Amino acid sequence: MTRTTHRILVTGACGQIGSELTPALRERYGDDNVVATDIRPPGAGHLRDQGPFEELNVCDRGVMDTLIESYNIDTVYHMAAILSATGEEKPTLAWDVNLRGLMNVLEIARERQLLRVFCPSSIAVFGPETPHDCAPQTTILQPTTMYGITKVTGELLGEYYVQRFGLDVRGVRYPGIISSETPPGGGTTDYAVDIFYQALQSKHYSCFVRPDTVLPMMYMPDCIKATLDLMDADFDFLRGHCNFNIAGMSFSAEQLVSEIQKHVPEFVCEYEPDFRQAIADSWPQTIDDASARAEWGWRPQFDLTSMTADMIEKLGPRLI
Ligand code: SER
Repeated sequence: MTRTTHRILVTGACGQIGSELTPALRERYGDDNVVATDIRPPGAGHLRDQGPFEELNVCDRGVMDTLIESYNIDTVYHMAAILSATGEEKPTLAWDVNLRGLMNVLEIARERQLLRVFCPSSIAVFGPETPHDCAPQTTILQPTTMYGITKVTGELLGEYYVQRFGLDVRGVRYPGIISSETPPGGGTTDYAVDIFYQALQSKHYSCFVRPDTVLPMMYMPDCIKATLDLMDADFDFLRGHCNFNIAGMSFSAEQLVSEIQKHVPEFVCEYEPDFRQAIADSWPQTIDDASARAEWGWRPQFDLTSMTADMIEKLGPRLI
């Protein structure tokens, strides 16, 4: 394991993943070496108190460049993005934020010869033509959402900067991420987080996907682990760079409900599928992460049972 990076900038630091990735990076590299940025300032809490925070709209290349220069940044974790459901409501915004933002990061990284860039992708790169079970890493990528289109393009762009300019760009295809710290926003897999809040607070949830909808998911500790492990990996051992499938768990909405009911027996879930059902139906149910396992030792730690127990344990005292 090499640890050569010391001056880090995180975009989208107030988002679902950024708000837990940033403290993890600060723990490893020191609070002052990790600059949190987001389009909006953080609420009260550790993100602002622990280390530097700067407002940054990733579409503003000038501001991004100035921050990277003034903080002497050598590594960027580019977490800012518009997710799938918001992307269907605002397709041009998704295109702009996800691709102009990424181009800004990649171009600044190229010009300033940064050490390493992390650019997350998503299971949204897959589409109805992709095998629904055990979707391979290299397969048909014909997404039907704008979010998916931007993520396929992002993977290709990242790989282009690796091959053409020798830039060290890496990324995983995140599944739906479940977490207790910061709620997600604008995604199709968000139901699997919202449901915990509602189960604990009102004991009732109206779910926007059908009970038999199965999607790949992952618990936040595994998401952070995957991100850090890939960034620690020896570049020379990586065959792909920006498109690693990583699997955590897959479950249907009704399986999640049953698991939550083991902790909250009075919990009732109703199903009222909306436009997000079509997005969910276009994605695979399970994915094959053999490359991540072989090339950088990826192993998830949480399954449905252990994730649910941990979510209830973390959220319960806060919500009840
Ligand atoms: N969680 C994302 C979404 O639902 C998928 O990457 O949009």
